[in-house]
Amino acid sequence: MGQRLNRCLDVPGALPPPPPLLPLRRRLLLLFIMLFLWLYMFYSCAGSCAALPGLAPRGSPAPPRAAAPRLPALLLRAPPGSPAAAAAPEPAEESSLEEQRAAPDAASPISSFFNGSGTKRLPQAIIIGVKKGGTRALLEFLRVHPDVRAVGAEPHFFDRNYERGLAWYRDLMPRTLEGQITMEKTPSYFVTKEAPARISSMSKGTKLIVVVRDPVTRAISDYTQTLSKKPDIPTFESLTFKNRTTGLIDTSWSAIQIGIYAKHLENWLLYFPIGQILFVSGERLISDPAGELGRVQDFLGLKRIITDKHFYFNKTKGFPCLKKAEGSSKPHCLGKTKGRTHPDIDQEVVQRLRDFYRPFNMKFYQMTGQDFGWD
Ligand code: A3P
Repeated sequence: MGQRLNRCLDVPGALPPPPPLLPLRRRLLLLFIMLFLWLYMFYSCAGSCAALPGLAPRGSPAPPRAAAPRLPALLLRAPPGSPAAAAAPEPAEESSLEEQRAAPDAASPISSFFNGSGTKRLPQAIIIGVKKGGTRALLEFLRVHPDVRAVGAEPHFFDRNYERGLAWYRDLMPRTLEGQITMEKTPSYFVTKEAPARISSMSKGTKLIVVVRDPVTRAISDYTQTLSKKPDIPTFESLTFKNRTTGLIDTSWSAIQIGIYAKHLENWLLYFPIGQILFVSGERLISDPAGELGRVQDFLGLKRIITDKHFYFNKTKGFPCLKKAEGSSKPHCLGKTKGRTHPDIDQEVVQRLRDFYRPFNMKFYQMTGQDFGWD
């Protein structure tokens, strides 16, 4: 048996001849190609995997986000006090985590896949304000445009996180391909003294967008938001006045202060020409979203792709909603924190506030060349 085996092994030609070895150069080339393909797949996945939760239908429970390696810290909340919490930028004050989940900072999985090979760029356009003006609606609507890529949550770079540096800021941005615009929105920039100089030093050419809304309604909306988090705060009426008997308005209350648009705008005009700032009417964004989006697309130099075909009026929500949200085929309205019911405010106080804002509004109309019709 052993002999037979030996014979078999010894006999030349008993086994099929080994395949001819590839020349070393060819083998190296093959190895290099395989390595390149592997690296490309890995890189593409790193760019797109973060968007994969977007595959899940809106409304269905999102998979645990902590597992996603490239997920921007913006979408996650580290335990307070932990080093991660110190490093992570603040989540959007006015938009819930649920809302941010519904709006991951990436486009559709397909475009994310291609954008995986794109580049992270500093934003060329920023929605700088105003808080409660309708900034989330504008960003959500704009993201429908294939040439707009925006970070979902508010980075607060030019107010709270400036010391982290531009590299940190850029890293928060989604990848873009040539011709796509990178955007972010942080409404507090509009009232931040240092923001205009800082944005201008990043790039003088940055396009700025401000969504403005009747300052009285805006103040009530702002108060409603705070009330939803802290139900024990004093009434709107009592917070409005320094002294109710004299009728002196408390302009140090941020809800009132933010609405003095003309004053804040003066600060921006020290660094940016008025033509580089677009003022969007928060009221028209609700009554005619496509019209306002048309103006925004023109301002950004984009093809007018977002039209009235993209919107429908949702009677239950009481607001325009998207027929198809970005990266989804389903209708999409903003979350519960947008479009809250406001408390009833004493009409005398409302009138007093109207009188207070009137001169500032007039000045603002003059500066912008637009009559927003708040009076
Ligand atoms: P209210 O909740 O007081 O109604 P911001 O996103 O800047 O915080 O603004 C919030 C405001 O956006 C909401 O204030 C709401 O009036 C307004 N808004 C504009 N378009 C909207 C839309 N399509 N859906 C929901 N809210 C919208």
